[in-house]
Amino acid sequence: MSIVSPKYDFDKIIDRTETESLKWVYPRKVLKAEDAIPLWVADMDFEAPPAVVEAIQRRADHGVFGYPLVPPSFYAAAIDWLKRRHGWEVQKAWMSMTPGIVPALNYCVRAFTKRSDPVIIQTPVYHPFYYAIENNDRRVVRNPLRFDGRRYTMDLDDLRTKIDAPGRMLILCSPHNPTGRVWSQEELEALGRIAVERDLLVVSDEIHHDLVYPGHRHHVLASLSPELAQQTITCIAPSKTFNTAGLATAAVIAPNADLLKRFEDEAERSGFDLGQVFGIVAFEAAYRHGEDWLEELLPYLEANIEFLKKFLEERVPKIKLIPPEGTYLALLDCRELGLEPAALNDFFLKKARVYFSDGKIFGPELEGFVRINFGCPLALLREALERIERAVKELPGKRS
Ligand SMILES: Cc1ncc(COP(=O)(O)O)c(C=O)c1O
Repeated sequence: MSIVSPKYDFDKIIDRTETESLKWVYPRKVLKAEDAIPLWVADMDFEAPPAVVEAIQRRADHGVFGYPLVPPSFYAAAIDWLKRRHGWEVQKAWMSMTPGIVPALNYCVRAFTKRSDPVIIQTPVYHPFYYAIENNDRRVVRNPLRFDGRRYTMDLDDLRTKIDAPGRMLILCSPHNPTGRVWSQEELEALGRIAVERDLLVVSDEIHHDLVYPGHRHHVLASLSPELAQQTITCIAPSKTFNTAGLATAAVIAPNADLLKRFEDEAERSGFDLGQVFGIVAFEAAYRHGEDWLEELLPYLEANIEFLKKFLEERVPKIKLIPPEGTYLALLDCRELGLEPAALNDFFLKKARVYFSDGKIFGPELEGFVRINFGCPLALLREALERIERAVKELPGKRS
């Protein structure tokens, strides 16, 4: 079943190979799987909202692309969005533009910890969290999520044991990539209580904040209590929601002026002070005019989840979907295929001609899993699944 959006054509197949798209070019040209369907890195195969495209075109028509300032309207658009969609009241003085959330995580690690300090992450998790810690010579401390075979939950008893001194830092992923969890208010409140009691600084990466499915609600961690807000840095961006990741523009929000200053000082030391002309324009246009596009995108993505779930249940039952509550990413538990974890992604690429993110990059917990990105036209998802069905049937001695 396809949802034909009345206004936006999410079914449209767009050739992205000619635009040096990482998602398309890497498996096809670098890994030399010419016809592979790429369902890996987190961008979608949809055009951004027309209002975003038009805002960029208007700015391009000006023809002069010198250094930009960040206008007050940039912050105002995010402030209105956060209030309207997430019930969080933010002041402009708490905000800082950044070239992306991954750079912001690196700035935070350098600004708030010292060499060899521990930084806690809830694994398996988005792999650049590890890099932000390790590439800056800090220590990854793992607070593994609990998994009951279908759903991941936080292990807060374990977290307590991992905070070895005040002033330590946790990088939270909320909603969580790659498990697709949208943390409940109770879970976040419990985490927040520990953070306040133990003086744990939380860098809360909320980039997937708008991509949440019915029955779930995103709660901004910093909105849960004024004390918690004082020790939280929240990272937001329109880039996942509106598919503008290549425009490299995001924002951090810290109600604690000292934390914000330390963050900004570190960004400056790293050589970042001015933004990107088109990124600034797109950020504002997306948050100001993108809402009804998002309202149509969400049911389309939800229908893709439903399709994926049914297809696997009926036609490839050895691959189990971990149903996502948010994000356009989901884990596929492939352990019943009986393949060596090291050979799994190769099997999908070489035999099925479908490229996923290998689960292991998110942590050793995900050996035997892959992460699928279902942010694409239904026809592409269907073709990928049919290829997988055929490849699994051909596995020697294995019937799915
Ligand atoms: C949790 C999370 N944080 C950050 C990013 C990337 O952020 P940026 O492109 O702003 O560096 C992603 C992209 O997939 C993500 O999933």
